[in-house]
Amino acid sequence: MVLVSSPRHGGNRQWAAAIAGVKPQDLRDFSASINPLGPPRSALAAIQSHLAELRHYPDPSYGELRRAWASFYGVSPDRLLPGNGVSELLTWVARDLANLDSTVILRPAFADYDRALAAFGGHRENLSIFAEDLSTEIGQVTNPQNKGLLLNNPHNPTGKLIRKEDILDYLDRFNLVVIDEAFMDFLPPDQDQSCLDLIETYPNLIVLRSLTKFYSLPGLRLGCVMAHPDRIQKWQTWRDPWSVNCLAVAAGIAIVQDREFQQRTWAWLEPNRSDLSTRISHMTGFVTLPSSANFLLVKTVIAGSQLQQYLLKKHKILIRDCLSFPELGEQYIRLAVLTKSDHNVLLDSLESLTNSTNALL
Ligand SMILES: Cc1ncc(COP(=O)(O)O)c(C=O)c1O
Repeated sequence: MVLVSSPRHGGNRQWAAAIAGVKPQDLRDFSASINPLGPPRSALAAIQSHLAELRHYPDPSYGELRRAWASFYGVSPDRLLPGNGVSELLTWVARDLANLDSTVILRPAFADYDRALAAFGGHRENLSIFAEDLSTEIGQVTNPQNKGLLLNNPHNPTGKLIRKEDILDYLDRFNLVVIDEAFMDFLPPDQDQSCLDLIETYPNLIVLRSLTKFYSLPGLRLGCVMAHPDRIQKWQTWRDPWSVNCLAVAAGIAIVQDREFQQRTWAWLEPNRSDLSTRISHMTGFVTLPSSANFLLVKTVIAGSQLQQYLLKKHKILIRDCLSFPELGEQYIRLAVLTKSDHNVLLDSLESLTNSTNALL
């Protein structure tokens, strides 16, 4: 028998479908923070037209993909390494971090940071993302010249955006600054706080970008890391030579040129995020935190895991409880921003729960 255990990440539809008693595709998934407008047609067309390449190994230097992404992100190709999602690349970044005295992480944090650091025996130092003055807290870290700082901007699961000008100060102090910008694409260029343009100036800066969330391709897997060329070369010799498959390469080249999809996503996000946030906050027992990303962290008086079970069993809706973030526990849930019609279904379901005193019994 295959064991389906309680998930550490969002989007675990097999586990959820078993509880809801439906097929995974029949769930309404608010748990994984994936763009509901995708995947873009450009990605599907590229995959379709490259199927014949399945009988060949991908180019291990990923020259064409590297050039396309380097031009999109504004860095030179020797500073970029494509990977099988950010999660794969985090592993190699963590190998460098583990050589330092410790790595400062803002909690709650994406679970893979711990997984990757633990793989190489790296030490951790925890700070709270909820600190009133985050810059002062980070400024008080002792011996930063021997330590790493691992930031996630915008931050999962709070949606908080850290200002680039604050990060500049950290770059001058820490031995290594790693910024996971997995959700940065969701901010239009005039609002983003990306540090990509600092890559050429700071050899101690590493930036990770995921293409699975914005382009709605988590099943295909696509991400990249940008850093000093010496690090890129080293990681390339350590890792599996073909970790990005040929269909992902084809899709990866097509999507960064898909301006129409990018514009449409920016136009969708702001009004839909504010729709979900306002309507949830109007309900008794729920408070949403301000978010710059495509998800909302919501404080709830009903235990998050109970709410998750209720919505799954009664309404086939999957939300993210926050039990895998020990700092949040039962008091929070995380919701992806989807479409207004998805929001209507979720809000109706939540209202039927809050109106019914017996619903959780
Ligand atoms: C903050 C953060 N970084 C990275 C990832 C992993 O992204 P990828 O699908 O590119 O491996 C996730 C996935 O949930 C995430 O939340």
